[in-house]
Amino acid sequence: MKKDLIDILDLTNNEIDEMINVAFDIVENPQNYYEKCKNKKMAILFYEPSTRTRLSFESAMLDLGGNVLGFSEAGSSSVSKGESVADTAKTLECFTDIITMRHPKEGAPFVASQNVNIPVINAGDGSHNHPTQTLTDLFTIKREKGRLDNLTIACCGDLKFGRTVHSLISAMSRYENIKFILISPNELKIPEHIRSEILLKNNIEFIETASLEKYISEIDILYMTRVQRERFFNEEEYIRLKDSYILTPDKLITAKKDLSILHPLPRVNEISVEIDKDSRAAYFRQAKNGKFIRMALILKLLGL
Ligand code: NCD
Repeated sequence: MKKDLIDILDLTNNEIDEMINVAFDIVENPQNYYEKCKNKKMAILFYEPSTRTRLSFESAMLDLGGNVLGFSEAGSSSVSKGESVADTAKTLECFTDIITMRHPKEGAPFVASQNVNIPVINAGDGSHNHPTQTLTDLFTIKREKGRLDNLTIACCGDLKFGRTVHSLISAMSRYENIKFILISPNELKIPEHIRSEILLKNNIEFIETASLEKYISEIDILYMTRVQRERFFNEEEYIRLKDSYILTPDKLITAKKDLSILHPLPRVNEISVEIDKDSRAAYFRQAKNGKFIRMALILKLLGL
């Protein structure tokens, strides 16, 4: 049976561990992977803007010796003529071996996966999920901290619309002794389904607060996020909330020496560029990690 990646929970912790090990091996021995996807093609169908996710998938496939085709703007494809996601996916199935899709509508990559017999990867669907960013985040945490358990993880910013946070909380809830500090304005708290179906159901310790400073000394991973302008109904509300948190060096005075600061990027204003010089700033290393773990994912889904 073909395997898709729609939700991070489609993968077991063992499968994630396996992929992380493959990603470590790719970092060490990239030459062993140069031909693995020879004659394979990936369709990359992006109905929403992207820099890292799309280009790291492209780069991952190229580094595996494969090829990519697709679109980075729905307006340039038959989508603009009104074609359905299902029909676009069925068409790409004629030409390619695996599909990666980003879409503003929750569930669109799932619909694609139900209509084709090749693997489909969700590269972000609306404010719902972003499982490959989470794989990137887990690989980064493993590289930075050497473990995925016994961690206090703070997620800060737009926890309501930020799909990367939803997938990260889902994934981390399955590791031992994880505590979350969820930092957001009242209007941008995590959705009820994440609170009840993930955190409460799995007895995960969590604190919700509006203060970035209050718990800073306890945090192992600080996961900053941008306020998701494109998901707001009201531009004024966005403008009011957009600068709720700006991480500056003074806010880190009491932080741990081995803190890791992550951000899925793009950054707008929520981390001052001065922080980039701090060795704890891991977000560009995180972006780089995205390619290696996506290579491991492609190999897994193609059964190679
Ligand atoms: C994120 C996304 O698209 O959800 N970006 C990414 O994939 N690295 C985060 C964001 O856009 O804020």
